[in-house]
Amino acid sequence: MSHSTGRRIVIAIDGPAGAGKSTLARRLAARLGFTYIDSGAMYRAVALWALRRNIDPSDRYRMQQLARAASIRFEPGSSRVWLNGEDVTEAIRDPDVSAAASVAATGAGLRQALVEQQRAMAVSASVVMEGRDIGSVVFPDADVKVFLDAGQEERVRRRVAELGQRQALPPEAEKAVAVQIKERDTRDRTRSEAPLVQAPDAIYVDSSGLSAEQVEESVLRIVRQRLSNGREHS
Ligand code: DC
Repeated sequence: MSHSTGRRIVIAIDGPAGAGKSTLARRLAARLGFTYIDSGAMYRAVALWALRRNIDPSDRYRMQQLARAASIRFEPGSSRVWLNGEDVTEAIRDPDVSAAASVAATGAGLRQALVEQQRAMAVSASVVMEGRDIGSVVFPDADVKVFLDAGQEERVRRRVAELGQRQALPPEAEKAVAVQIKERDTRDRTRSEAPLVQAPDAIYVDSSGLSAEQVEESVLRIVRQRLSNGREHS
């Protein structure tokens, strides 16, 4: 997509766990030639580092220090995440890390450190960034904001399928995942610092019952409309 002004574009995708944010954001970035940034991976990377060093993720002061010291890199064009020079792409998906990241994310100091890094990533490139507070806090002036949601059962099913691709799951896994997602959602929505909320100017999209292609096409239509501002473009 061409932009006559040469201005950097920000597309913000927020929503609860399992709504399909990563799939949508990755696809949109590939279609538009933008950089994909998974902000949740940054919270996860700091949480992983804390767990390995036996630091309590609810220790706000130490978590802020870790976030400031962490070098988090995304490999351009892939979804790989590097922490202090180590590829942690798989390690940060562990359910223990999910829970620790959600706890750590309640701390204002840690959030501030990561938000600064997120803003810096959009200085030199147009980005599709996904998370919880991208449209509400990180980029309140984002060009397009999407709040992606899906029913609780569907979100659990998707997360179970995703985990099942990585490891063999016991039959009771679905119940455990349901409990974890519920806990995490409640914490993410009710924390005082940058809780998960739909920004007033975000477009609400419910992905329940839709394929990844359908969600991508409908959001891409919205993006093109917004970015062209009513003008025709290729
Ligand atoms: O998107 P995710 O599930 O990988 O995110 C992991 C945790 O990080 C999530 O439970 C809340 C937190 N998070 C956040 O607070 N703000 C963001 N922008 C992204 C993630």
